[in-house]
Amino acid sequence: MTGKRLVIEPARRALRGSVAVPSDKSISHRALIFAALSNGNCTLRRFSYGEDNVSTLQAFVAMGVQIADNGPGEVAVRGVGLRGLREPDRPLDCGNSGTTMRLMTGVLAAQPFRSELVGDASLSRRPMGRVVFPLVQRGAVITGRRHPSRSHEVTAPLEVGALVGKQLGGLDYRLPMASAQLKSALLLSGLFASGPTRLSEPVVSRDHTERMMQALGMPLRAAGATVELQPLTDAMAIPGFELDLPGDLSAAAFVLVAGLLVDQSEVTTRHTGLNPTRCGFLDAVRQFGGDLAVAPRGSSLNEPHGEVSTRSSRLRAASIGGELAVRSIDEIPILAALAARAVGTTEFSDVDELRVKESDRIAATVRLLGAFGVEADEHPTGFVVRGQPDGALKAGRVDSGGDHRLAMTAAILGLVADGPTFIENVDCIATSFPRFVETLSALGATLRVEG
Ligand code: S3P
Repeated sequence: MTGKRLVIEPARRALRGSVAVPSDKSISHRALIFAALSNGNCTLRRFSYGEDNVSTLQAFVAMGVQIADNGPGEVAVRGVGLRGLREPDRPLDCGNSGTTMRLMTGVLAAQPFRSELVGDASLSRRPMGRVVFPLVQRGAVITGRRHPSRSHEVTAPLEVGALVGKQLGGLDYRLPMASAQLKSALLLSGLFASGPTRLSEPVVSRDHTERMMQALGMPLRAAGATVELQPLTDAMAIPGFELDLPGDLSAAAFVLVAGLLVDQSEVTTRHTGLNPTRCGFLDAVRQFGGDLAVAPRGSSLNEPHGEVSTRSSRLRAASIGGELAVRSIDEIPILAALAARAVGTTEFSDVDELRVKESDRIAATVRLLGAFGVEADEHPTGFVVRGQPDGALKAGRVDSGGDHRLAMTAAILGLVADGPTFIENVDCIATSFPRFVETLSALGATLRVEG
């Protein structure tokens, strides 16, 4: 199935304006989870119905949680408490969403009923052993399928057994990689455990789960790359809450890079999430010499937000690796578009986790750049890009391979190409940025979806 095609014309005029971006995907997942497990009525504002978040929402509806749409972006959740989820009568479909599958596995591992988690073709190839093994270590009963080519790896569908008359135990665990999905799955399972959950990561991954747990009064302490959640006492409950969801910096990144690449442009994304563990993109843009302004505006449930603006800039090559790579992991494909227009050769290192995202994003990004005539070479844990700052890029036909971030990166490169760019298979954009086309159009770009 190839799905719809996006056609984007080279920008013939500056992009200008201030736009809203979809609600932060990571925070929206967590907000739905904590709201469903709360003992109160919760209101989530600015919720944007990206398909990944809808997968999490529907999983809770299937387990008896009442979730209502109150009109423009407002979602009301009536929490059922930590012990109130009901056995679903069908497999929970996580679609394309790794966050749904991994975080929900943490919640389901502790339930007194059995459940099954399934996903689309891309999600069914992604590694789940990283979540399954430590959960089994603390007493969960989970079985998956052996990966077709990596026999030590476990993939979906995952079957989670019922824990009847038993409780998960404490866990002392060193994560083999920086992964917020893994860390969050283990912390969520820790809400139901009899002992503490002590975790350490090689580098701190995004800390939305920790921030939300602390804001909601859970007994969690974080210091550097370690985090400790104490077992809950019987009297402890998650209170009802209200949250004004910040916009997703990972989505804003596409708009902001468009502003940097197209001549004479000046663009702003409003109400954009500015959690420091997510702001690697901003530091990377500064390294590329991009003209960037950030205006903090406030915070909701410990999550800061503000306005971010970019202006077209002459870019120089950068070097992205180590903790900066972790803090910008989802933005590496769009940062590669900046590298494509920078003077010099940019090196992306320590990004091997990209090989197990929605696609192998190292190989896919290098291929995508090649389709625009930009030289790039991959190595096992990263890739290099030789910038082509002058003249238009070669326009072409590309296929997203079903990866939303690759589809949107191709669209932004198309703005500085020498003719219309045709991008096949773009339905996936709706997983994270349902109004992508409308948002770029509002800034002055010319693009349309066909098919
Ligand atoms: C996410 C964590 C990241 C990121 C993903 C969303 C999350 O993955 O790539 O898009 O919401 O926890 P890791 O678990 O590999 O850090």
